[in-house]
Amino acid sequence: MSDHNKTYDDFIGFMKENTCISRSIALLDWDQQTYMPPNGIEARAASQAVLQGILHERVVSERMGGYLRELSRSEVYESLDEFQKTNVREMKRLYEREVKLPSELVKELASLQSLSQNAWVKARQDSDFKAFQPYLEKMIELKKQVAEHIGYEDTPYDPLLDEYEPYTLTRDIKSIFSRFRDKLVPVVRRIIDEGENMDEERLKGDYPLDKQEAFSRFIAAEMGYDFNSGRLDKAAHPFTTTIGGGDVRITTRYDERDPRPALFATIHEAGHALYEQGFLPEHYGTLMAESISLGYHESQSRMWENMVGRSLGFWKHYYPSLQEYFPGPLSGVDVETFHRWVNIVKPSFIRVEADEVTYNLHILLRFEMETGLIEGDIDPGEAPEAWNEKMEKYLGITPEKDSDGVLQDVHWSLGLFGYFPTYTLGNLYAAQLFNQARKDIPSLDEDISSGRLLPLREWLRENVHKHGMRYTAKELTEMVTGEGLNEDHFIRYLKSKYGEIYGLSL
Ligand code: CO
Repeated sequence: MSDHNKTYDDFIGFMKENTCISRSIALLDWDQQTYMPPNGIEARAASQAVLQGILHERVVSERMGGYLRELSRSEVYESLDEFQKTNVREMKRLYEREVKLPSELVKELASLQSLSQNAWVKARQDSDFKAFQPYLEKMIELKKQVAEHIGYEDTPYDPLLDEYEPYTLTRDIKSIFSRFRDKLVPVVRRIIDEGENMDEERLKGDYPLDKQEAFSRFIAAEMGYDFNSGRLDKAAHPFTTTIGGGDVRITTRYDERDPRPALFATIHEAGHALYEQGFLPEHYGTLMAESISLGYHESQSRMWENMVGRSLGFWKHYYPSLQEYFPGPLSGVDVETFHRWVNIVKPSFIRVEADEVTYNLHILLRFEMETGLIEGDIDPGEAPEAWNEKMEKYLGITPEKDSDGVLQDVHWSLGLFGYFPTYTLGNLYAAQLFNQARKDIPSLDEDISSGRLLPLREWLRENVHKHGMRYTAKELTEMVTGEGLNEDHFIRYLKSKYGEIYGLSL
């Protein structure tokens, strides 16, 4: 065994120990969001902070730096295989980000986060932007410092975005989002002005929670989610978390009067979980068993939730079972009516309640807002006005209070600038990948409408999941679909689906 083989093995051993720590943090967090008694919060926060501290110290340690320096020497690096190169390259990227940040700044950010989130909760309750403004200003200032320490060529938003969507540049997102916006706004306008919506209340009724849970389990298993390597629990804000190879957990939420929140949260989270369950076991604990970006992660959940789970074909197969579970509200209701009910498009103030069409306008607005705030084109004090103007321009509605507008999301109070665009990137990647899957699997539509969901899961495993972080989002997209990210796939998908639902030629 040569010396650098030993160095690589030591490096991977160290990385896997770090993964053990981060998975323990994930387990504490999962427990906090599912079963922890309310009085456990303080002790839990202390445990989390200690583990986070240990992990951070190890990531920026001299030991890690030493491994990376040795393994990055070109004659050593070139002798590694593609998987080994991926682990070195990606760990180096994470290390270099973290090591550039002074520990004072990291601490200041952590303490501002908790103060700022508290202030945000209260400000949102009272719909009082002025009470939150000083925290927002301070947060923007600290995030700009983060950007300065990490460094950038073009805009301070780049290094912030890079945390969630590695190797993707702000200017590329700006250009794709502005093209996308110009094509999407007229589609939304026509649906709103000319489309006729069914009554939201019409299919609400008695949907017993135990049956909703049983149906959620059934659908997740149909998608190929492995319950021997996961579990389903209840959470106020559904999420997916990986506790380790062989333990990828999902959560959902329930409404006794309406089955849609549980159905689509479950399908969404199971879509995320299939990605995590699709990594190759030999890479567990390394960066070859991590997703390439949040946008790509979201593409998996949204493809399953919207392109599969809200399609007529899917319900042609599964609706009779759903009716058996819930005969009260659904007997005598045809599948087309149910399909329209799960695809109602209407402008709304609150992002998390928005449909898949208008949702993207909420994201485009936030992306424009946060690049403006970070780049200095929008003054934090003018954020509510800027927000409301954009709402009027894109959705034709103006919130009456800031709690329904600029104050609605937790993200900025936590300093999560650069996170929002990954939601819309997810939709765009999803449509482009799904389009390719249809070409590669000619029977795909028929499979879905016959309840055969595994061919799609296999295609995603083979083309996306198993690669871990080996390729960048851009490389993988080009490799799998033969072109760079192209918003037209999503626009075509929307026009065809909603043209049919609303009887409009869009
Ligand atoms: Co998601």
